[in-house]
Amino acid sequence: EKGGFDWFMRKEIYDQPKAVADTLLGRHDASGALRLDEIRIAPEELRAVDKIIVIACGTSFYAGMVAKYAIEHWTRIPCEVELASEFRYRDPIVGPTTLVVSISQSGETADTLMAIRHAREQKAKVLAICNTNGSTIPRESDAVIYTHAGPEIGVASTKGFLTQLVACYLLGLYLAQVRGTKFSDEIALLIDELDKIPAAIERQLGDLDGVLQLAADFADAPSVLFLGRHVGYPVALEGALKLKELAYIHAEGFAAGELKHGPIALIEDQLPVFVVMPPPGRDLVHDKVISNIQEIRARGARTIVLAEEGDEVAAPYADVMITLPKVPTLLQPLVAIVPLQVFACELATRKGHDVDQPRNLAKSVTVE
Ligand code: M6R
Repeated sequence: EKGGFDWFMRKEIYDQPKAVADTLLGRHDASGALRLDEIRIAPEELRAVDKIIVIACGTSFYAGMVAKYAIEHWTRIPCEVELASEFRYRDPIVGPTTLVVSISQSGETADTLMAIRHAREQKAKVLAICNTNGSTIPRESDAVIYTHAGPEIGVASTKGFLTQLVACYLLGLYLAQVRGTKFSDEIALLIDELDKIPAAIERQLGDLDGVLQLAADFADAPSVLFLGRHVGYPVALEGALKLKELAYIHAEGFAAGELKHGPIALIEDQLPVFVVMPPPGRDLVHDKVISNIQEIRARGARTIVLAEEGDEVAAPYADVMITLPKVPTLLQPLVAIVPLQVFACELATRKGHDVDQPRNLAKSVTVE
């Protein structure tokens, strides 16, 4: 069943090109127009939406953080992301023109389920992004976009996360199409870029020696930090979560811009710091992240820089460089997370941990 791999998780990492392709399959026509009839919320209702709230837990929450960047940019609809476990306890402002998007791989997470029940009581429309056909969350939602990752057995989410990202991008672009906030050729271009992602991940998975070496080098590190900006920030959080879950190492993800507001005090000699570089070019934040790398290197940290291939500016600042395929900025999480998943899986394997069933964790968290 593990297809020759030592762990389900490793198999699921290698399943990702297919999982992404399957999630895109049949959701657009040859001209790049989106076909999301399964949404079952009428276009008029989607045009009336004045606020989106994404609710989820754990890795699914980080997919939601990426969704916020994409949805707001493409649709100009204000979008909040909230931890499902916090949502109903703060008297959120939700009504008939609010679209609540719940993201859950299992479809059984109690925190998320309670949050959508609360949202529906307030007459909000609830759209579920879910990987498990017929599970409770999609059954209790007004609409669902299924991710087609196939069963995810490893407790640590991998292909679940990637396909959630794809579903969020599809939703954002569909809303842009329905509301006319993007030209159809711009949407078609982004769909085309999404269609290229499976091949890009395939190439990454064929070139992992550098990441495997890192796991050997840092097997005894007591703590690892991850920095990112814009959509690289949720990637940093997800990279840190994978390491906590699997390797039981203290790991934290930060928004790189926050470094000077506190976390820089943690930087010390030999501390491994992963930095997710935004693509160079038009993005002003690229230079700012370069300055962050200089600051942490000056304090003796080891920098592992994930940067787009051909990023000549970032290269000299990296102790170790991991190159990422060239993709549009908003889609970068799809390729940036892959080496971090492999790093965590490999490090945990080296430590002799049960990668598929980490201690204290369950695949579906069905209690609040
Ligand atoms: O099934 P869900 O997507 O609702 O699960 C949410 C979290 O419990 C889940 O993502 C958890 O954080 C994973 N173990 C992460 O690898």
